Amino acid sequence: MTDIHSSSSAASADEANAYSKPRIVLHWLSAAVILWATFSGFGVVLLDPNHPFRQWVESFNPQLTSLFIPFFAWRLWLALRAEPRTSRKPQERLAHTVHMGIYAAVSGVLITGVLMMTHPVTLLALITLPQLIHSNIALLQLHELHHVLCAILAGLVTLHLAAVVLHHVRGKSVLGRMIK
Ligand code: HEM
Ligand code: HEM
Repeated sequence: MTDIHSSSSAASADEANAYSKPRIVLHWLSAAVILWATFSGFGVVLLDPNHPFRQWVESFNPQLTSLFIPFFAWRLWLALRAEPRTSRKPQERLAHTVHMGIYAAVSGVLITGVLMMTHPVTLLALITLPQLIHSNIALLQLHELHHVLCAILAGLVTLHLAAVVLHHVRGKSVLGRMIK
């Protein structure tokens, strides 16, 4: 009897935590874009400014991340409109806070990225995003802010990945929710 109750309450907890197919697909798309932009963006700083790979990354990444903006906006909209859960355990509240922090940091990184461009960005040889700001001081400050926000985002994503691994090691894996 107790077993039936505990397994049915575990099943309903799983249902309450389930993610829709679009949220799952958008999660993995944004994970790939963000991990690439973070590792390659910080990584190429170690190379000479004229190194061909650094120049390629600095030209490719703004295009990739600008194309990612509508997908991120869709993902944010789906997350915000998801049923708000009133009764959260402290650990779930912490996870929710980190997820919201990630959304805020990604929004900041995307906004500062677009504003700090020192030249127009052509996407897939089709659309051109114009340079929006021309003051050198403002561009420098935006670059600094972009850098700080990228570091904050990297810290939050590290926390996020550590939590996923910790749950898995403790035998309470949450990975299944983001796979099916
Ligand atoms: C997913 C969002 C993004 C991530 C994770 C990201 C990450 C990074 C990282 C780690 C750096 C290196 C740190 C630094 O140089 O201070 C960087 C630099 C840069 N990012 Fe982003 N970025 C994103 C979005 C954008 C967008 C949307 C644009 C513009 C359309 C952009 C334009 C740039 C530029 C111009 C640089 C400086 C490259 C240089 O030093 O010449 N970023 N980004
Ligand atoms: C390979 C790396 C990653 C793995 C294995 C992973 C795994 C997961 C898992 C299992 C969940 C569900 C957690 C739960 O419901 O308790 C989740 C949710 C989430 N992840 Fe990741 N993640 C990864 C990378 C990232 C990255 C790079 C970001 C940055 C954008 C991110 C942002 C989020 C957010 C915001 C959620 C909350 C659910 C949502 O609103 O979509 N994840 N992740």
